[in-house]
Amino acid sequence: MSDKKVKQRRSQAWYGKLDRDGFIHRSWMKNQGYPDHAFDGRPIIGICNTWSELTPCNSGLRDLAEGVKRGVWEAGGFPVEFPVMSLGETQMKPTAMLFRNLLAMDVEESIRAYGIDGVVLLGGCDKTTPGQLMGAASVDLPTIVVSSGPMLNGKFKGQDIGSGTDVWKFSEAVRAGTMKLVDFMDAEAGMSRSKGVCMTMGTASTMAALVEAMGMSLPTNAALPAVDARRMTLAHLTGKRIVEMVEEDLKFSDVMTQESFLNAIMTNAAVGGSTNAVVHLLAIAGRVGVELELDTFNLASEVPLLVNCMPSGKYLMEDFCYAGGMPAVLAQISSLLQPARTVLGGDISTYYEGAQCYNQDVIRSLDDPLKPAAGLRVLRGNLAPDGAIIKPSAATAALLEHEGEAYVFENIEDFKSKVDDLDLPVTKDTVLVLKGCGPKGYPGMPEVGNMPIPAKLAQQGVKDMVRVSDARMSGTAFGTVVLHVSPEAQAGGPLALVKTGDKIRLSASQGQLELLVDEAELQARRDQWQPDAPHYTRGYAKMYIDHVMGADKGADLDFLVGKDTRPVTRESH
Ligand code: FES
Repeated sequence: MSDKKVKQRRSQAWYGKLDRDGFIHRSWMKNQGYPDHAFDGRPIIGICNTWSELTPCNSGLRDLAEGVKRGVWEAGGFPVEFPVMSLGETQMKPTAMLFRNLLAMDVEESIRAYGIDGVVLLGGCDKTTPGQLMGAASVDLPTIVVSSGPMLNGKFKGQDIGSGTDVWKFSEAVRAGTMKLVDFMDAEAGMSRSKGVCMTMGTASTMAALVEAMGMSLPTNAALPAVDARRMTLAHLTGKRIVEMVEEDLKFSDVMTQESFLNAIMTNAAVGGSTNAVVHLLAIAGRVGVELELDTFNLASEVPLLVNCMPSGKYLMEDFCYAGGMPAVLAQISSLLQPARTVLGGDISTYYEGAQCYNQDVIRSLDDPLKPAAGLRVLRGNLAPDGAIIKPSAATAALLEHEGEAYVFENIEDFKSKVDDLDLPVTKDTVLVLKGCGPKGYPGMPEVGNMPIPAKLAQQGVKDMVRVSDARMSGTAFGTVVLHVSPEAQAGGPLALVKTGDKIRLSASQGQLELLVDEAELQARRDQWQPDAPHYTRGYAKMYIDHVMGADKGADLDFLVGKDTRPVTRESH
């Protein structure tokens, strides 16, 4: 390496000084047994790890960190692993999403405060990937992702079962009396039988797929099972590559461009990806300085669904991997992709050139898609002036154009206390409305938008209804579910004004969500409306409630938008 490069290297402001500060930075690191030449100006690579036993989806990341280290040393770098907050989607209350922005702050400030030149993000479970990307974007060093990888296919009574998707199906079957509770309990261990993230195309695998499509990981990162030895190889190769990226000064913002985000939106439609991708992509774009609007997602509304994975299809991520994974998908949709740079330095086309599909039922072609127009639809209207979304590929086609009377649940407690009431005055045509589940309201915008069908109707065999809320839904869920209604009820959006018996019209084809109540009546209700008292009055949750933006802006905190790439010049001693 040339002297010029060493002088420019960020880590030299910590470890290259021949004074008291340099002594202190080096000496304390040497208590771990590092030799002098570790500080000779070579690239210092941070390995930002969300490993935690409370985040079972990320429990393989300690092993992968060792793989990354091998590659960093081999390429002449110096790897240093550091922990950040981990977000276990299935374990945290009230919702892991409340803490996505806190993880992002942790990641950002850790990267900025330490003397590292590049960073490898080790994440996987739903909120860990976007939280890490948001934080890293705001520092803008050379950055690359290694994901946990999906669990092996779930197995139960000789059948494949999928994380999340089959939980919703089984629990509805228990409520409808068509599945025994003992069988329901028996399915638990078979569903999650290896390390890794949910093996459906839920939010974790969606975000990993989009990361690969945006060129922020090496090819094949999204689908290789967590326990496949080739994922360890990928970690090793990633360690080698991040050292080269530092030498080339190939930064986060060089890869995560407007074109990359457009490619992610197209890819999300083709893979049947999670609705959560919308809030996460909007938030990451806000950090890196890419202009992305909610309505941009409509560009993909006509993109067909190619990946036949749950919840939109029938296979699982292991099948998707063996069928060719993301390279095969990107090859299929290459005509829809923009030229865009990747962490390898070249164009995204290098990720799929020569890619083969080995199972045409798992990865369909544009000529023979699973569904013709699968992209998310952005809805607008007097019920959602700042927008809402629906995922047609996971909905019942006949309900995508629907008009019905609302039955309103004022909050999640109201919903839970009434949903199993066999006298609940609802029919299959009722529009279920749930308030108070947006970013400020819950707080944290939980995945409760796919509210269970009322017991009275479930027992009649009703499997889907139109549901409207300011919540999110799990990427593994399905149904005719209108989500992310903005402004949210707690912020005084029109959703707060809906009353039981009001008529609501949904037209997915026209992108409309209308409350059929005249404006004079709505104004009278608005004059009477008061927000609920906030659930939290101290700590991080209070800061979150005070500063979180709407779902249409990615639900980031208002003061975290953008980046700060200035050098840190002040010392602690
Ligand atoms: Fe962690 Fe699904 S709960 S990936």
